[in-house]
Amino acid sequence: VIPILDFGSQYAQLIARRVREKGVYSELVRPDISVEDLKKLNPVGIILSGGPSSVYVEGAPRCDPRIFDMGIPVLGICYGMQLGAYILGGEVKPAAAREFGRAKLHVTSQDPLVHGLPDDTTVWMSHGDQVHDLPKDFIALAATPTCPFAAAKHKTRPFWGVQFHPEVTHTPRGALIFENFLYEICKAKGDWTMGNFVEQNIRKVREQVGSGKVICGLSGGVDSSVVAALLHKAIGDQLVCIFVDNGLLRKNERELVERTFRDHFHINLITSDASEQFLRELKGVTDPQQKRKIIGREFIEAFKREAKSIDGAAYLAQGTLYPDVIESGHGYAGTAANIKLHHNVGGLPAELGFELVEPLRELFKDEVRKVGEVLGLPENIVWRHPFPGPGLAVRIIGDITPEKLRVLRDADEIVLEELVSNGLYRKTSQVFAALLPIGTVGVMGDARSYDSVVAIRAVESEDFMTADWSRLPYDVLATMSNRIINEVRGVNRVVYDISSKPPATIEWE
Ligand code: XMP
Repeated sequence: VIPILDFGSQYAQLIARRVREKGVYSELVRPDISVEDLKKLNPVGIILSGGPSSVYVEGAPRCDPRIFDMGIPVLGICYGMQLGAYILGGEVKPAAAREFGRAKLHVTSQDPLVHGLPDDTTVWMSHGDQVHDLPKDFIALAATPTCPFAAAKHKTRPFWGVQFHPEVTHTPRGALIFENFLYEICKAKGDWTMGNFVEQNIRKVREQVGSGKVICGLSGGVDSSVVAALLHKAIGDQLVCIFVDNGLLRKNERELVERTFRDHFHINLITSDASEQFLRELKGVTDPQQKRKIIGREFIEAFKREAKSIDGAAYLAQGTLYPDVIESGHGYAGTAANIKLHHNVGGLPAELGFELVEPLRELFKDEVRKVGEVLGLPENIVWRHPFPGPGLAVRIIGDITPEKLRVLRDADEIVLEELVSNGLYRKTSQVFAALLPIGTVGVMGDARSYDSVVAIRAVESEDFMTADWSRLPYDVLATMSNRIINEVRGVNRVVYDISSKPPATIEWE
């Protein structure tokens, strides 16, 4: 294992992920962890993350200085490098110019850490301080025009430091730095897999819940599905899943979830059919925020009702991922939530009184998909596009009626069918149909029609915070459009949404 001492860097978890990608298990630990506790983890190496502080400021986070005497390789990144150099006798000062963005790195000495790097390469910098005077026991390994010690190592102790960020994609050869550190310096084997993650977490879950009962809100999305499959493997029938049918699901969605989890995995699954209740409460409501509030409230009500009927449940399993953890800690919740009041299955309130089980908290989305594959979840669940908690309610612009739901479900099904049959599902991030609240004139046969407009939305996105509209082939769009107009009663026009996010959002409401 490679413990990462987290000094508050926004990239700390990304470092862990880069290390895991190289087949070495890695997790974040408190920055002030003692050498004794570190030893218990049996580390082959240690990484000190970046962080927003300045090492020379009072109260700045420090690590146990004995870390450098353990005889285990330590890599300091940004603040971690400055801290190492500072503890080992160097001087850290504000840089003449704060440095953010790409910089040219020139390798100045040969060393296992920079082995295989071209003489000149691009790295990503993001720092206000830098090591000013290299302590006499250090050797400089690489420099940028403004940072003379962009990489360095100690002459006698196993400590290396880099001022740049090898973990971000803007450092194109960053993976090589990790490979060098892990394989050449730490002599890690690199044989850790997501299968090991599953085993580790099965043990952790068993330890946490003992013989207790666990409830899991299952939506059929990737995250909650993976949690359910993982927990089922860990604790079998101590797990009860609750799936709320809010009447706003896509065509055949409930059947897919029931088939997959009840029939295939033999998971104890309760479907709460609350659709009438949801649709009654939503009747006549047109304001998107209002819709989300009602749906969020009704979801909690429905969930509570079912949860109450399960005797002695003490734990609630949630598919919280690492990005959700940062979003709630670092402002996305405070800023983005003002744009859209997100409601999702993961967002059950604390006052339900359960202890949380969150086995995916350290992972990124694509790692979760790998876990899903290891657990044997079918491809159509593992690679599912996201679907918002409020479902079709935010894709029917204006008020929601059973007839509009029928039209949208049928149109959406055609869009997805064509996407899949043309091999485009995995190439796109989210694709769906939305129903607009206007009638338009058309001609069908010899008669005038006055019917609805369906919009097709298709985007590509890494993180769903920004997105670009997909350049779907015209032929595919043509088939989607023809089929919708011919097969879905009540639609006579189809449009394609060519807006990117920002300034548009992915959903229409
Ligand atoms: P927007 O529309 O904000 O969407 O660009 C970004 C991603 O979030 C999904 N989304 C939601 N998910 N509850 C959810 O669980 C919501 O209220 C909600 N609103 C949007 C959206 O589908 C996209 O993947």
